[in-house]
Amino acid sequence: MTNTENNAKWWKNAVVYQIYPRSFQDSNGDGIGDLRGIIRRMDYLGKLGIDAIWLSPVCKSPQEDNGYDISDYQDIDPMFGNVDDMEALIAEAKKYNIRIIMDLVLNHTSDKHRWFEEAKKSKDNPYHDYYVWRDGREGVLPNDMKGVFGGSAWEWVPELNQYYFHQFLPQQPDLNWENPQVRKEIYDMILWWMDKGVGGFRLDVIDQIAKEPDQGITNNGPRLHEFIRELSRETFQKGDLITVGEAWGATPEIAKLYSNPDGSEFSMVFQFEHIGLDQQEGKEKWDLAPLPFIKLKKILTRWQTELHGCGWNSLFWNNHDLPRIVSRWGNDGEYRVESAKMLAILLHGMQGTPYIYQGEELGMTNVQYDIEDYRDVEILNMYKERTEAGYAREDVMRSIHAKGRDNARTPMQWDDTENAGFTEGTPWIKVNSNYQEINAKSQVNDPDSIFNCYKKLIQLRKEYDIFVEGDFTLLLEEDENIFAYQRKNDKQTMLVICNFFDQTIKMPLEEKCSDMKMLIGNYDKIEDASILRPYEARIYVK
Ligand code: GLC
Ligand code: CA
Repeated sequence: MTNTENNAKWWKNAVVYQIYPRSFQDSNGDGIGDLRGIIRRMDYLGKLGIDAIWLSPVCKSPQEDNGYDISDYQDIDPMFGNVDDMEALIAEAKKYNIRIIMDLVLNHTSDKHRWFEEAKKSKDNPYHDYYVWRDGREGVLPNDMKGVFGGSAWEWVPELNQYYFHQFLPQQPDLNWENPQVRKEIYDMILWWMDKGVGGFRLDVIDQIAKEPDQGITNNGPRLHEFIRELSRETFQKGDLITVGEAWGATPEIAKLYSNPDGSEFSMVFQFEHIGLDQQEGKEKWDLAPLPFIKLKKILTRWQTELHGCGWNSLFWNNHDLPRIVSRWGNDGEYRVESAKMLAILLHGMQGTPYIYQGEELGMTNVQYDIEDYRDVEILNMYKERTEAGYAREDVMRSIHAKGRDNARTPMQWDDTENAGFTEGTPWIKVNSNYQEINAKSQVNDPDSIFNCYKKLIQLRKEYDIFVEGDFTLLLEEDENIFAYQRKNDKQTMLVICNFFDQTIKMPLEEKCSDMKMLIGNYDKIEDASILRPYEARIYVK
């Protein structure tokens, strides 16, 4: 029996590939990636073997936050193309059995959205209550809540003598989910996209929709799951979709609600507990700290075991908001190839749906630009705030180099020609200078490449039910170097062993895997079975 027959839910053995459209492939020389560009590269994605593409937002937007500020949910931004191009993309992807997942930004709109332009006109305007307002006096803020990208979360509108609430930029006013009319408009819009053949949705900061600003509540508000259940019932449940919520505030308990197998909410959520480990506790992501390795093992294990059988994990190291994993927890120097493959093997062996972020399958790395070369509003605001507050410039730059979102947003490295084959014009953000060494062209046909390691992992997940079904047990819990675990179902046992660091060490599980078959590894051949080389990783099965 194959996985598909075995699992009613197709997305359980699927692998999703995230595209950040403005940095993937430009088709018309304006330096910005677009939908026609993605269509041109579908063959590459087909080769990799992925099942779905999560597209970061392509709807109409002033691009204050690269599309996470939508001014028309039912139109495509001209920078990316038009609705016909979107339909062509859905159709082209279908030829490769690839579904398109759209990014739904439902917590807020752009301040240029028609609803907000109306809302600002007067307190009696029917759209006024689509947003979150508080009466007040200029200069006397309703409270001291801050926006995620700096500054107050309240913005004054003198004509109305009111403040509106925004958890992100002032150009991203929060929608008022208490208003049933807002919810209804959202459902109609989602059904419209479903009708066009969209295969799923990723829900931006969905845990923040039920905010209660008077109580200082941003995420996990009291009505959150009520809203999500209604949303799911009115839309997603009418189709066979994959849905994934972005939930920075999720605990395993909460994630069980979100990903309840009864389908009442989403398929799964992105949780970020492991992602916050390399920062000082209680501080911001910019306040760097070394990765506590044992803690990483504990946290990932907890998510694996707690959701087993009663929820579903999404598996990821990377997205458009995070630095490149090979630079972050791997080694982007001498052992770039080995460590990139190790991180892939470690993640793809777990239970859940893996997400690959564009370029991760090539081992693309972080960049170290000067401040003028960054484009991300979060980086630019933080730079200003911290340098004005007296932080040393070099410390601020070190944080940006380590954690800045633009690390993930540099153009996709296709080949070794000018601009890495991304554009014939001037790219909107500089290409990483290592594109001649790291690019798709040199990897696709090289059986030992990182690309082919990912490809093989995707295939294995489809061949072996144990990837999808097996339970999870962490091995060697206190080992300071090795991340190893066992997966087990009623037929098979699988062992994943990873040396997480750059030293050669003794292989403690030699005996355990002596009668098992090796499915994949990141070194050519094993000469000495009693050791693990730097970043060595293997999967065994029996
Ligand atoms: C999410 C997105 C991020 C965006 C923010 C506001 O965290 O991933 O890119 O800036 O929401 O929409
Ligand atoms: Ca373009």
